[in-house]
Amino acid sequence: MENPYLPIPVKIDRVTVETEDRNQKTFRFVYVNPEDENRFQYKAGQFAELSVTGKGEIPIGIASSPTEKGFVMFTVNKVGLVSSALHDMVEGDVMGIRGPLGNWYPWEVLEGKNVVIIGGGFAFTTLRSSIVMMLDPANRKKFRDIHVVYGARTPGMLLYRDELAAWEARDDIKMHITVDSAAGHPDWKYNTGFVPAITEAKAPKGDPDTYAIVCGPPVMIKFTQPVLDKLGYARDHIIMSLENRMKCGIGMCGRCNIGNDFVCKDGPVFTLEQLNTMPKEY
Ligand SMILES: Cc1cc2nc3c(=O)[nH]c(=O)nc-3n(C[C@H](O)[C@H](O)[C@H](O)COP(=O)(O)OP(=O)(O)OC[C@H]3O[C@@H](n4cnc5c(N)ncnc54)[C@H](O)[C@@H]3O)c2cc1C
Ligand code: FES
Repeated sequence: MENPYLPIPVKIDRVTVETEDRNQKTFRFVYVNPEDENRFQYKAGQFAELSVTGKGEIPIGIASSPTEKGFVMFTVNKVGLVSSALHDMVEGDVMGIRGPLGNWYPWEVLEGKNVVIIGGGFAFTTLRSSIVMMLDPANRKKFRDIHVVYGARTPGMLLYRDELAAWEARDDIKMHITVDSAAGHPDWKYNTGFVPAITEAKAPKGDPDTYAIVCGPPVMIKFTQPVLDKLGYARDHIIMSLENRMKCGIGMCGRCNIGNDFVCKDGPVFTLEQLNTMPKEY
C-alpha cells in the first residue's frame, strides 16, 4: 500500500510575483519523475500539502487547472514559517507535494448550469483553476453563463492580472473585476467597490439553474451571504471552500474537524446548507 504521507518530488520551474507587495507568489512545479503526473490527477477545488524540507507542510489550493498538463501550480501568501521558506526558494529547487487532497467543487452538479464565481483577495487560487477548466474548449459548452466577481484592495493586489485581462476580452465569460480603491491608478477601467456591492449590482438572480461559488476573506463572505439571499440563491446553491488549520490533510490527526466533519477529507468544499448544520467553528 502506498504511504499517504510520502510527498511526490517536484522541481520549481517558474516563480511569478503576483502582487505589488510581493507577498503573493505563484510557484509552477514540474514532476521530477514524469510518471508522477498520473498519480496527481486532481479536480478544480482540491488542495495539496506543500512540503518544504526542514520546515514542514502547508495546505494550499491547487491554482492550475486539470486541463493544464505537465505542471501543477500554487499561489502562496507569505504569512509564517513554511510560506516564508517557500518564498525564499528559487527556480530549479526541488521539494515535495502531497495530494491531491479533499473534495472539489461539485462539477457533476454544475454541468448544464449557470456558474457565478465570487472571489476576494488571494483566495482566488482554486477559482482560477475552475475558470481555466470551464473555459477549456473541451468543457465550455458543458456550462451555461459564467460570471466572475473578483475583487482586491487595489489594482496591484489582484492575482493573475494578464489572465483577468484576457478573460475580460472574451464574450463567453462575464467578468466583473473590482477594487476597493483605484486611487493613483487613473487608467483603471473596471469597477470600484467592495465585492458584495458589485455582486448585488452585477450577478444574475438566483434560480434553480444558477450556482454561486464563493471564496474569500471572512469579511467578504459575511457581507456576500446576505446579498446572495437577497438575489434569491438557495442555500444549497451557494458553494464555499474553508481554510481551517490542518496537519495531516487525510482525516487522521483530528486537527481540522468541525463537529463530526473533517474539513481536509469531507471538505474543504461545502454548500452553505451543509455549513448551516455544522457547529460555527469555521
Ligand atoms: C484547504 C486550504 C487551502 C488553502 N489555500 C491557500 C492558498 O491557495 N494560498 C495561500 O496562500 N494559503 C492557502 N491556505 C492557507 C495556508 O495553508 C496557510 O496560510 C499556511 O498554512 C500558513 O503556514 P505558515 O507555516 O506559513 O504560517 P504559520 O507560521 O503556521 O502561521 C503564521 C500565521 O498564519 C496564520 N495561519 C496559519 N494557518 C492558517 C490558516 N489555515 N488559516 C488562517 N490563518 C492561518 C497563523 O495563525 C499565524 O498568524 C489554505 C488553507 C487550507 C486549509
Ligand atoms: S488535518 Fe488531520 S484530520 Fe484534517
